Amino acid sequence: MSKNLPSYLTITNNLTQELEAAISTIKPDKIALLVDEHTKKHCLPFLEISFDSLIEIKSGEAQKNLNTCKLIWENLTALNFSRNSLLINLGGGVIGDMGGFAAATYKRGISFIHLPTTLLSQIDAGIGGKLGIDFGGLKNHIGVFKNPNNVIICPEFLNTLPEREIKSGFAEIIKHGLIYDSGYWKQIKEVSIDQTDRMDIIQRSVEIKNAIVERDPLEDGLRKILNFGHTLGHAIESHFLASPNYLLHGEAIAMGMILEAHLALRLEMLSQNEFEEIQTFILSHYRLPKAPELKELISYLKQDKKNRDGSIRFALIEGIGRCTYDVEVSEKLIMSSIKAYNRMKTC
Ligand SMILES: NC(=O)c1ccc[n+]([C@@H]2O[C@H](COP(=O)([O-])OP(=O)(O)OC[C@H]3O[C@@H](n4cnc5c(N)ncnc54)[C@H](O)[C@@H]3O)[C@@H](O)[C@H]2O)c1
Repeated sequence: MSKNLPSYLTITNNLTQELEAAISTIKPDKIALLVDEHTKKHCLPFLEISFDSLIEIKSGEAQKNLNTCKLIWENLTALNFSRNSLLINLGGGVIGDMGGFAAATYKRGISFIHLPTTLLSQIDAGIGGKLGIDFGGLKNHIGVFKNPNNVIICPEFLNTLPEREIKSGFAEIIKHGLIYDSGYWKQIKEVSIDQTDRMDIIQRSVEIKNAIVERDPLEDGLRKILNFGHTLGHAIESHFLASPNYLLHGEAIAMGMILEAHLALRLEMLSQNEFEEIQTFILSHYRLPKAPELKELISYLKQDKKNRDGSIRFALIEGIGRCTYDVEVSEKLIMSSIKAYNRMKTC
């Protein structure tokens, strides 16, 4: 199943066998499992392995912060975790990013395994070694790059994932087609991410993400294309984080992709037909709110990790299936794309 992928990255429904093999290679002196209340209920019963401790945190993006991280470090310390101990992250992108960060920094780094349980974490967040937490209201502001010892992707976990979360993950799948593979984009437009198509889609998206991060692990160049939709998407996600109308990560990215495709249109990198194809497809899949005004997003945009010399830089598509990066865009143009988006049919 996991052809074209490095050995640490496995897609399988035979979770126990893969996990036992990974643990026997690491030979840890202690094992702790990091879960939230949903993965404890729905995913933990799949794990037929013995472990020393269960660390449970509350679910959700709002928990991906220093306080929760401190709680994880305190647990590991109380458990007398050594440099030879192992943390297994059982959950979505929040558990993976934060559990990985806690493990990569505890005693300067212990072994950790990702068992991603959401579509978004199986096809994106779990791959490529970006770990971290939100800080001061800014997304992923503090973090490190470090690959887990293993990432074991078990599509069966998705059977209990709510529909809204499946759609959130689907946004990153859309992104993979738009930035890298026009044939995949056509396939995506035909599929429903149900049981039938799931394995193929997960396989192709994992291949794309892995192919990009293998060529540029530390995001010096090519890897920046994975940020298509994310510059405005992250700012929008941060803006809504504290509000009752919070958006899921993929929903914010879906909005960001329309806005950034519009920037590409205005910069004559994308044709009108292609823009409309993207906009129509995304709007038919997501109920998205109006975009906040630029003045409400600007402080987040100014903190974006891709910026240089005080200018805001974007990864923008140059036609469907190709993407470039470090494109400087003026505030005026961003403002006009926000206005154009808000004139489109949104709810
Ligand atoms: N590191 C990266 O490269 C990268 C890439 C993209 C996104 N991310 C990060 O990923 C995070 C979003 O991840 P996410 O969408 O997985 O969100 P999440 O981790 O918050 O999970 C979404 C919800 O689904 C629940 N859940 C998880 N698995 C379940 C299952 N199998 N059945 C039922 N419920 C389940 C969780 O408890 C949570 O309530 C964001 O913080 C984003 O910044 C990181």
